Amino acid sequence: MPSLRMTLNGETVSLSVTGTRTLLDVLREDLNLRGTKGGCREGECGSCTVLLDGRAVNACLLPAMKADGCSVTTIEGVGSTEAPHPLQEMIAEAGGVQCGYCTPGFVMSALALLIACPKPSVEEVESAISGNLCRCTGYKRIIQGILRAAATMPRQETT
Ligand code: FES
Ligand code: FES
Repeated sequence: MPSLRMTLNGETVSLSVTGTRTLLDVLREDLNLRGTKGGCREGECGSCTVLLDGRAVNACLLPAMKADGCSVTTIEGVGSTEAPHPLQEMIAEAGGVQCGYCTPGFVMSALALLIACPKPSVEEVESAISGNLCRCTGYKRIIQGILRAAATMPRQETT
């Protein structure tokens, strides 16, 4: 079985994976990182968004071996309940979290945006999260939260 070696949330990990498995499957099933959600598994909902070398990707569409040699960041590497990232805090404060299923994906897409563009416009935020679906909140509050986080955060480093 091929060996996958990547930097995951700042730690080097190596594991054997079959060629057909996606990064989403490996994260959730092999590495027990359940914050990355599997919604549609067809690239439509964005709930599986992670950062691959600092760029937002749909982990459900990415063959796991494509992450070999890369840096991968999941929501677990961004913040926690005890120590939330400003994006998590501000999206929640703005009322952009209801069931929360979509939230990790939005946070990861927003983080990728803020790495590339620390002070985005409303339009840039809308574009960055255009691949993320939320059934509960509408998008206005999520966008407000992202803009508030951007206003308070120092420049984000590429992961
Ligand atoms: S689970 Fe990947 S885009 Fe929906
Ligand atoms: S908060 Fe429920 S899907 Fe977005």
